[in-house]
Amino acid sequence: MTPSTLTTGAWPAVTSVPSEMAAAVLTRFGGPEVLQMHSAPTPVPKPGEALVRVASVSVGRLLDVVARSGKHPYASFTFPHILGAEHAGVVAALGPGVTELQIGNKVAGFPVVVQGEDEFTRAGYSELSPRLQLLGTHRPGAYAQYVCIPAENLTVVPDTMNPAEVAALALAGPVAMNQFTRAGGVGQGTRVIVQGATSALGLTTALLAKHLGAQVIVTSRHESKQAQLRGFGFDHVLDAVEPSFVDEVGEVFEGKGAQLISDNLGAPMVWEHGLQVLAPGGAIVSSGAFLGHNVPVNLQRLYSKGQRIVGVKTGNLAAVGQLWQEVAKGFRTITDKTFTLEQAPAAHHYVEAGRNVGRVSLEVE
Ligand SMILES: NC(=O)c1ccc[n+]([C@@H]2O[C@H](COP(=O)([O-])OP(=O)(O)OC[C@H]3O[C@@H](n4cnc5c(N)ncnc54)[C@H](OP(=O)(O)O)[C@@H]3O)[C@@H](O)[C@H]2O)c1
Repeated sequence: MTPSTLTTGAWPAVTSVPSEMAAAVLTRFGGPEVLQMHSAPTPVPKPGEALVRVASVSVGRLLDVVARSGKHPYASFTFPHILGAEHAGVVAALGPGVTELQIGNKVAGFPVVVQGEDEFTRAGYSELSPRLQLLGTHRPGAYAQYVCIPAENLTVVPDTMNPAEVAALALAGPVAMNQFTRAGGVGQGTRVIVQGATSALGLTTALLAKHLGAQVIVTSRHESKQAQLRGFGFDHVLDAVEPSFVDEVGEVFEGKGAQLISDNLGAPMVWEHGLQVLAPGGAIVSSGAFLGHNVPVNLQRLYSKGQRIVGVKTGNLAAVGQLWQEVAKGFRTITDKTFTLEQAPAAHHYVEAGRNVGRVSLEVE
């Protein structure tokens, strides 16, 4: 199937809510073809929740492609299952007690749901709560015309943004923001490297670091993707797998090393080269390791240089607030192709083949 290249997709009109909706449903694990269109009951918002008429939903690596194949390390699905985590849409109905939203609001859906209090939420680390639930993993997702989500997970977005760019920021934006916070902050002149900057999360992380005034090195293994990154305004585009990477970083950062490296890959050589160019006192931060779970660490070098390895599970509501404040100041991300919901199998093929630079999304009609 040929993907459409809609990048300015429309926000759906919200009228009366039907009792049945269209959804791309999984009834078993397998290749992209197991994503099939079905009719499903439209969910009804519970107290504190909103019903969102989905406009755009992201296709991510772990939560979508890996999960659909049955290899997700912590997802256990009851079939039929609806995937779909970060999304954009229009508020279509409100559950009891929701006063902060209005029907018709254009919203970003942050898919990390943590309800109630515990030691982690009280400490500002809600992403570590054992009660964390993800849309599309533990709760029905947004590969559908409608999805229910707690109202506190929705942010009203600027009218001028299109659904695909809102969806691309809904989770990746707060994850990037939380990485910066947990690692000690990114600001004017901070020396940052984003490994795998062509990934959906990587590109948003790199663009956010640049927006905040950092000096940014981005990496990709492919000349064609490197050219795209240059076209997006990155001046320092390297291949982290090449042995010359270490010297090249030295030149860009004038021998000082990186203060923050974002590495969500789990590729041993990329990790090792990252540690070699990490500045004294610097942090290497990870929110994913889809290429493998074990990487080399020279502990002698780590402690003697006072460096940190920081695991950041995902974003939280504080990071959501910070992210959308930056959007209000002009921050935007860059998206890749948009497919239709019916083309979900083609979108999964495209991401699985590593053809994307930035976020791929499904437009829901
Ligand atoms: N914790 C969270 O909330 C969260 C949210 C979103 C994503 N993530 C994580 O972020 C990571 C990326 O996810 P995504 O959906 O953004 O990915 P994606 O768009 O599918 O991109 C994959 C990336 O991996 C790189 N890559 C693939 N094979 C490689 C290899 N052998 N060596 C070096 N680089 C390689 C590609 O770089 P090239 O340019 O070199 O091809 C590309 O940048 C995953 O680990 C995912 O779990 C975490």
